[in-house]
Amino acid sequence: MKVLAGGGALIATSKLPLLAEDKPEVFPERGGYERLALCYSTVEIGLEKPFSVLHISDTHLTAAYPGENEKKQTLNKRRTQTFGGRQEEALRDSLAWAKQHVDYVLHTGDLIDWQSEANFDLVRKYFGEGMTGSLGNHEFTSDMWLSEPKEEQTEKYKDYSREKLQSVYPFDISLNSQVVNGVNFVTLDDVYGYVTKQQVKRFREEVKKGMPIVLCMHVPFYTDNIWRAAHRFWNEKGPLSSGVLPKVTGDFKRQLEDPVTSEFMEYLKKEPLLKCILAGHEHISVEDRFSPTCREYVTGSNFLFHGREVIFI
Ligand SMILES: [Fe+2]
Repeated sequence: MKVLAGGGALIATSKLPLLAEDKPEVFPERGGYERLALCYSTVEIGLEKPFSVLHISDTHLTAAYPGENEKKQTLNKRRTQTFGGRQEEALRDSLAWAKQHVDYVLHTGDLIDWQSEANFDLVRKYFGEGMTGSLGNHEFTSDMWLSEPKEEQTEKYKDYSREKLQSVYPFDISLNSQVVNGVNFVTLDDVYGYVTKQQVKRFREEVKKGMPIVLCMHVPFYTDNIWRAAHRFWNEKGPLSSGVLPKVTGDFKRQLEDPVTSEFMEYLKKEPLLKCILAGHEHISVEDRFSPTCREYVTGSNFLFHGREVIFI
């Protein structure tokens, strides 16, 4: 198992101290590892030293201490029901499996469902100093529907908790680079679909390093097929009736309409160093070709014990 110095986007599995549940309540005879629903993808780069990564996303931890305010208690009750109450077990199983099977772990956001001291402590506990990945839209959520600031889904809204999140998550939450065996893992915050000019500038600096790049973030950079799949899962009822692209809304619409983001995505499609995109947010596993050199993999939700081993060769 490889050890990385300092913070970064990936967790070196050698740093993970965790064990799976001995006798979990669910599937007790199968053992913790066999409760995972993993899919596999291979990224062919031509590496001297192949390695693999467990990609997980969307754990949606819902913890609150008894002393935290009433809104946190309400969210704890309601959202634990929503996500099944086994999120921490799922995370523990994933990390324990990773320790025995892969070199690094990457988490692409919505590790917590909303902000609480208990959730922040879980982030610290499970990822410690070696962690990296990206934030999700839920990391920036204070009290969900219980408080609705007008600036939601803007940089201004993020400003309310940016500093706090940066102190809890041990990687640069805006954009982070970590080189693993000659591959540059660049993680970034695109939690409302868009990226900023500053992030684009920093990404272009990373390209100058001349290494193959794996781009990791919460919200996918939508292709038509990823959009269609996500739309079918979340919004459509009944069997498929048409091959026409469903109406583009939300994050995909923002990506097409925001000039900085759409220009960045067009540029990425022509960047030969970009080898792979890893994202989450949609709670389904779906993949598509993003560019001639890059496939995009969206990984299903970790609260349902999903993950993806990505093999880099
Ligand atoms: Fe999300």
